[in-house]
Amino acid sequence: MRVGILGSGLMGGKLGTIFARAGQEVIFSYARSQEKLKRLAQGAKGRARAATPREAAQDADALLLAVHWSRIEDVLNQTGDLSGKVIVSCSLPMNADDTGLVIAHSSSGSEELAKMVPKARVVSAFNTVPSEVLFGVYEARRKATRPSLVYCGDDESGKQVAAELIRDVGFDPVDAGPLRIARYTEPFALLVAELAYEGEGGPELAYRFERFGK
Ligand SMILES: NC(=O)c1ccc[n+]([C@@H]2O[C@H](COP(=O)([O-])OP(=O)(O)OC[C@H]3O[C@@H](n4cnc5c(N)ncnc54)[C@H](OP(=O)(O)O)[C@@H]3O)[C@@H](O)[C@H]2O)c1
Repeated sequence: MRVGILGSGLMGGKLGTIFARAGQEVIFSYARSQEKLKRLAQGAKGRARAATPREAAQDADALLLAVHWSRIEDVLNQTGDLSGKVIVSCSLPMNADDTGLVIAHSSSGSEELAKMVPKARVVSAFNTVPSEVLFGVYEARRKATRPSLVYCGDDESGKQVAAELIRDVGFDPVDAGPLRIARYTEPFALLVAELAYEGEGGPELAYRFERFGK
């Protein structure tokens, strides 16, 4: 599949690199310098290139949205029409200083995003994991026990695409249901971040969310 990366920072840079190594074709876009996008594409060691958000959106089968909440409007303006596109969003609706969620309880960032692009197929995924663990999970992907990763969305084919990308990274995808479940997974992501960055266990403790009974 061809995956467009909208936001090539900590999450987008790492996930895009892993998708390319897993065999997907990746288009890195949306960073402050074109040089950085080119460096990421070269370093991905797979089929990867740098492009504008518009090119990434036009050419991709699926898009990973990985920008700060304050940049969503800007990136969506740059992509143009996203009708029919699968958007896998790891973006959390954080305030400017990243101390809290600006949307919670009665809605979620993912649901608000879906309202902004009503003809796109939005799936919420990857936001419950700290970027620091992604390469480690990928390296360990052939081990018998894989850490789980929850995702949610309203479009079944979009969710299948997200599940494939989650497997590519080395997680066991857990379908948490419709997009409104993001009201619970997004606050959960803050707990994960608290454990990863403030707690004593570090990121490796935070991502080991597993299903019982397996
Ligand atoms: N980091 C995590 O562990 C983590 C975990 C779960 C969820 N999330 C969520 O994932 C999303 C992305 O987080 P992140 O940590 O990957 O953020 P990040 O490292 O800051 O990446 C954001 C990307 O947006 C680009 N950008 C910012 N302002 C721009 C502008 N004016 N023009 C063009 N590009 C611009 C940045 O460019 P540069 O590369 O040039 O800086 C960067 O590539 C956020 O919503 C966050 O809440 C993050």
